[in-house]
Amino acid sequence: VGKGVLTAPFARVDGAFQCEGVPAAAIAAAVGTPAYVYSAGAMRTQYQRLAAVLDGVPHRVHYAMKANGSLGVLGVMRALGVGVDCVSGGELFRAHLAGFAPRDIVLGGVGKREDEIRDALELHIHCLTAESEAEVRLIADVARSLDVVAPVALRVNPEVTVDAFHEYVKTGQSGDKFGIPIDQAFEVAKLTASLDDLRLVGLHQHVGSQLFNLDGLVDGAERLLALYAELRAKAPKAVAAMRTFDVGGGLGASYNGEPEPDLAVLGRLVRRAHDATGLIVLLEPGRFLVANAGVLLTRVLYRKRSGAREFVVTDAGMNDLLRPALYDAWHRVDAARATDRRIVAEIVGPVCESGDFLAHAREVDDVHPGDLLVVQSAGAYGFVMSSNYNARPRAAEVLVDAGKWGVVRDREQYEDLVRGERAIPEWSEIP
Ligand SMILES: Cc1ncc(COP(=O)(O)O)c(C=O)c1O
Repeated sequence: VGKGVLTAPFARVDGAFQCEGVPAAAIAAAVGTPAYVYSAGAMRTQYQRLAAVLDGVPHRVHYAMKANGSLGVLGVMRALGVGVDCVSGGELFRAHLAGFAPRDIVLGGVGKREDEIRDALELHIHCLTAESEAEVRLIADVARSLDVVAPVALRVNPEVTVDAFHEYVKTGQSGDKFGIPIDQAFEVAKLTASLDDLRLVGLHQHVGSQLFNLDGLVDGAERLLALYAELRAKAPKAVAAMRTFDVGGGLGASYNGEPEPDLAVLGRLVRRAHDATGLIVLLEPGRFLVANAGVLLTRVLYRKRSGAREFVVTDAGMNDLLRPALYDAWHRVDAARATDRRIVAEIVGPVCESGDFLAHAREVDDVHPGDLLVVQSAGAYGFVMSSNYNARPRAAEVLVDAGKWGVVRDREQYEDLVRGERAIPEWSEIP
C-alpha cells in the first residue's frame, strides 16, 4: 500500500487539502478538473537545498525543463537565477520565451535535427551537447553555413552500473542509446577540437533518473574525470577551450517515503570535479526540483465493483499522468477532504486501456462521485508527458505562490483538438 509523504507546502488543514494555504477545492471549483497545481515555494525550497551543498564551488544549475516545461514553472526557475537544459527545438523556443538568456541555455538530445541545431546557433546559446561523431560533424557543417564557431560539449556514456527503479530511466550503461561510448570519447574529443567551426567547451554525462543511490553518477563522473586527465596529458588542444564539466541530472525525488539522495555526496563530487579540472561544474536536475512541487487534482466520477475489486473511476487518466502506465510508478493519492472511512481500491482513469490507472490496490479515503482527489508528486514528468489520447483535452495548469494562485495554462478546448486538421487534404500530385 505504501504511505508517501506530504511535502510542505502541501498539507491537510482541518481535513481540507491545501497548497500554500490555498484550498485545493477552491482551485478545482474555479478551473475544473483535471488540473495540475504547482507550488512556487516548494520549487524554491528544493533549489535552496541543492544550492546549500554547492556553495563555494564554481557551478551552474541548469534546470532540465523536460521535467516540467510550463512557462509558469520556467518563470519561477529563471527568477532563481538558474539556467536551463533543453532537449529539443520546442524546448529551446519555450526557454527563450520564458526569458532565459541564451548564455544560460544548453541544448542536448540524442537526435537533434539540423533546424534545431541552426536555431541554437542563431540564438548563441551556451553550448550544444553532441551525442555522436556524426552529430559533431553536422554541427560543424551548420556552423560553417552560418559563419559561426559552435560551442560544443560532448555527452559521454560512461558505461557504469545505474541503480534506478526502471530500465527506461537508465541512460549511462553500456549499450544505451545516449552519448558517445567512453571508449570512443577520446578520439571524438580530439576530432571536435580539431574542427575549425567548433569549440570544444566541455564534457557531459547524464547516467539516469530517479537516483537515490548516487554511486552511478559518481562512478560516471570519475570516468569522465579520467578522460579529461588523459586528454589534458595526451591531447592538450582538446581541453584548451573547455569551460564546463557537466555531471547531469537524475537526483531522485521521494514519491513513497523513500529517503532522498544524499546531497552531501553530490556536493563532494562537484567539489572534486572542480578541483580536478578547474572547470565550472554544471548540474541538470529536473525531477528533484519539481516532482514534489506539483499535484494533480481529479474528481471521482464513479464507484463500481468488478470481481473482487473495488474501482474508483476518476476524470484524470493516463493521457493526463502517464507515469503509472509507463513505469508502473507509484503516486500517493489523497481525498482533498478527509473522510472517516478507508477503502482499498483500484483508482483508474476514463481512458479505454486497462493500463490506464493512477493506483493499484490502494488504501484511500472512502470517496464518492463528485469528491476531489489529489494525486501527489505530480510536478515532474506529469503534464509534459500528457497527450490528447481518446481525444481528451489536456488539463489546466495552476501556479500557487505565497497564498495567491493563477492559471498558467488554460484547459484545452475541443477546438484545440482539431487545430491544423482537415478531413480532406489539399491534394498534391507528384508530377
Ligand atoms: C541530459 C539530461 N539531463 C538532465 C535530465 C534530468 O533528469 P532528472 O529529471 O532525473 O533530474 C535528463 C532526463 O532525462 C536528461 O536526459
